[in-house]
Amino acid sequence: MKIAVVGATGLVGSKMISLIEDSGLNISELIPAASLRSAGTRVLFRGKECTVMTIEECLKKEPDIALFSAGGEASLKYAPLFEAAGCKVIDNSSAWRKDPSVPLVVPEVNPEAIRKKDMIIANPNCSTIQLVVVLAPLHRKYGIKRVVISTYQSVSGSGIKGMRQLEDERSGIEGERCYPYPIDLNIIPHGGEFLPDGTTAEEAKLVFETRKILNDQSIALTATVVRVPVMVSHSEAVNIEFRQKVTARQVYDVLKDSEGIIVLDDSAANLYPMPVDTSGRDEVFAGRIRQDATLDNAVDLWIVADNLRKGAATNAIQIAELMVMNGLI
Ligand code: A2P
Repeated sequence: MKIAVVGATGLVGSKMISLIEDSGLNISELIPAASLRSAGTRVLFRGKECTVMTIEECLKKEPDIALFSAGGEASLKYAPLFEAAGCKVIDNSSAWRKDPSVPLVVPEVNPEAIRKKDMIIANPNCSTIQLVVVLAPLHRKYGIKRVVISTYQSVSGSGIKGMRQLEDERSGIEGERCYPYPIDLNIIPHGGEFLPDGTTAEEAKLVFETRKILNDQSIALTATVVRVPVMVSHSEAVNIEFRQKVTARQVYDVLKDSEGIIVLDDSAANLYPMPVDTSGRDEVFAGRIRQDATLDNAVDLWIVADNLRKGAATNAIQIAELMVMNGLI
């Protein structure tokens, strides 16, 4: 199988390449693509140097599957061209997520959403992925009525530019800004552009994508997205109101046995998930599971995951593995 990575020089694209090496995918050729600026540079794959090419050159090499992580504009323009050439596209941008004909997939949650005829599969937003991995088994068992989410998102979620701003500020360098304000020694309650109702684009993504993936428009969700001076791993404080009486212990027990989740929750040992421990890991981590004393049927918890891995590259590769396993490629 020939696999293309579009956006191969970016944070997520380079993570995809290193994770493909360790995946169960049977790859005969890696075709890395990026913008014209990077064409001709090299990336390492299985100890061999592969030349980065433009997207047009990449298309001519007729890949069987393409992982896109080069931003929404490139996805909107090029994914249909890859589709027309018979290539399956797994797209990490937000370009196709809202399209009702495009499945939005987290393999632990809704693997059945991918049908044989689907050529473009959307990889959800990083904050959505870690949230739905935790919500799905709870929703299946108890039924979720409402969710309140506050995110603490790392700068790597904004790509290389976000990490560079934080690094520059820490080194006292005046560099190009990714955010409208300093991010070091600060937190910024603003992710994506503001919408007319006062929410932000990133908040709207969390709400829309969670409902689409859980296939339940009746769940009420409200989110506040916040950028924090952390390099890798997004954290989320989540309040879940169920449709029936559910104890914190029951939530703990369900999550402990759910696929892709590690529960770190022992207050006596100061044990809870934190970005320093979850970065470089593929699982979603949950902890601080406790009863909400102000509301019947509600539980609070804390979720952390590596946004470049499970929030992006790992999930995309798991989708590819799922498609191969189910004979969809
Ligand atoms: P390049 O490095 O040549 O600019 P990040 O999200 O970490 O900033 O990475 C974005 C990735 O997407 C990079 O590999 C970047 O390539 C690539 N990219 C961005 N815009 C385009 C485009 N219009 N065509 C092809 N690749 C693009």
